[in-house]
Amino acid sequence: MSKNIIFYFSGTGNSLKVAKDIATAIEDCELISMGKSHKLSGTYKRIGFVYPVYGGGLPGVVERFVKALDLSANENSFIFAVCTSGSGNAGGLTNISKIIGSKGSKLSYGETIRCFSNYIGLYAMGSDADSKAKAQTQATKQIIKDIQSLAVKPSNKNNPMTLLHGPFIKWLAKRDKAFNVSEACNGCEICSKVCPVGNIKMNDGKPMFLHHCEQCMACVQWCPKQAINVKDKTQDRGRYHHPDITLAEMITKK
Ligand SMILES: Cc1cc2nc3c(=O)[nH]c(=O)nc-3n(C[C@H](O)[C@H](O)[C@H](O)COP(=O)(O)O)c2cc1C
Ligand code: SF4
Ligand code: SF4
Repeated sequence: MSKNIIFYFSGTGNSLKVAKDIATAIEDCELISMGKSHKLSGTYKRIGFVYPVYGGGLPGVVERFVKALDLSANENSFIFAVCTSGSGNAGGLTNISKIIGSKGSKLSYGETIRCFSNYIGLYAMGSDADSKAKAQTQATKQIIKDIQSLAVKPSNKNNPMTLLHGPFIKWLAKRDKAFNVSEACNGCEICSKVCPVGNIKMNDGKPMFLHHCEQCMACVQWCPKQAINVKDKTQDRGRYHHPDITLAEMITKK
């Protein structure tokens, strides 16, 4: 068993990159996806959660994961959360500190890193992926120092967006009904392999969406043929993933 464990969720690699950077720096650290439930098998020095902000709060899958995680053998662990967002303080820590608090544990440290904003289904993305990636790495350095030294810095910042979070997350789950698959699809199955929550089943060589979607955009962004689109909005929007994260990592680290 390792001394430290980090749970992560990531659609386009921003959060995976942060989770990897922290795990490498603190050493002796397991990196586990929150796409599936997990049972902690011992006592850890540090337990971390790294994930993107969705609608001013946690992605639905992260909220369910943290609620289900039994922390009773880890009451004295240093529990931290780092969220990645497209804007500044985006409200992604409010819910997690409440959930962890309701289990009798406490969030010792919380921080948000501003990253490239990836919700291609909603807006045309920026063209500054490389500079955002550099800024992300820079911001991660201070967070690593804090986590290495077990600095206590709980975040209680609220964000008005958080009020809309519940209805927004419910709305997201069926947003895959807006997806279409073009004739460019070659049946490679990358979309189904990269989906962190098993929401894509291959049917006659084409992806079929099962309506428990997180809207992480992994399938849209990682499809090598840009064959998955949101209505008629994304055909000309280009695609994004964090420049230091490979497709193989997205798949093997599920
Ligand atoms: C469904 C969805 C909702 C999002 N909501 C927010 C938000 O409320 N505030 C924000 O700053 N960024 C928001 N973003 C942007 C992501 O939080 C940001 O790009 C994040 O770094 C993506 O992480 P990943 O690459 O690990 O998936 C949203 C992105 C998606 C796909
Ligand atoms: S990743 Fe793209 S090309 Fe491959 S099966 Fe999915 S939609 Fe088709
Ligand atoms: S179907 Fe696509 S957008 Fe929905 S959870 Fe899976 S990879 Fe993410």
